[in-house]
Amino acid sequence: MVYLVKMSLIYEPEDDSYLLETVLKKELPLLIINNKKLKFLEVGIGSGIQLVAAKEAGVDIKNISGVDVNIDAISHCQSLGFNCMKSNLFDNVTEKFDVIAFNPPYLPEDESPEDEESKLITTGGKLGSELPNEFLRQAKSHLKENGRIYLLVSSLTEKMDWQDYKKELIAEKKIFFEKLEVWKLML
Ligand SMILES: C[S@@+](CC[C@H](N)C(=O)[O-])C[C@H]1O[C@@H](n2cnc3c(N)ncnc32)[C@H](O)[C@@H]1O
Repeated sequence: MVYLVKMSLIYEPEDDSYLLETVLKKELPLLIINNKKLKFLEVGIGSGIQLVAAKEAGVDIKNISGVDVNIDAISHCQSLGFNCMKSNLFDNVTEKFDVIAFNPPYLPEDESPEDEESKLITTGGKLGSELPNEFLRQAKSHLKENGRIYLLVSSLTEKMDWQDYKKELIAEKKIFFEKLEVWKLML
């Protein structure tokens, strides 16, 4: 679902957002014990729910960054005090991070007509996996040693390509027509 904020579409937190948020709030405090300077990046920030989760989990706000293709989501998250910029996946990202999170558009393209703006938020390509798979390819160059990814996908996302990542399913939630999953991925 999407909602209108200042005449633009920003993804309103849904089950997928809350599942990833729960994971981050549980995992990040454990990582910070050993790495007080943990650097966190979220791709696809939307309303900023995961940036706030990282901050509440104890990540220093100076070490929290976010990117999106939606400039209204970026302005909104900047107004919350976060360091955010426009970037298609990692196009404008130069740094490496300890943790990268992404709740991507993961649904396969729908037969029914959908406007372009809403499609950008929900549709990951014909199969749903094209964008998440490209994210996984690019993320390799942006992970620090022992860095990890938290990626949300759905049972509706077809043909995920996990490449050479070691993966662990760390949370799942069945909702009436699909199962949401959060995967932890490391190289
Ligand atoms: C499902 S929403 C998730 C929003 C928020 N992170 C949450 O958990 O509720 C996906 C977000 O990814 C953004 N997005 C879509 N394609 C992107 C791309 N190629 N690069 C960066 N962000 C993208 C959308 O604009 C949207 O804000």
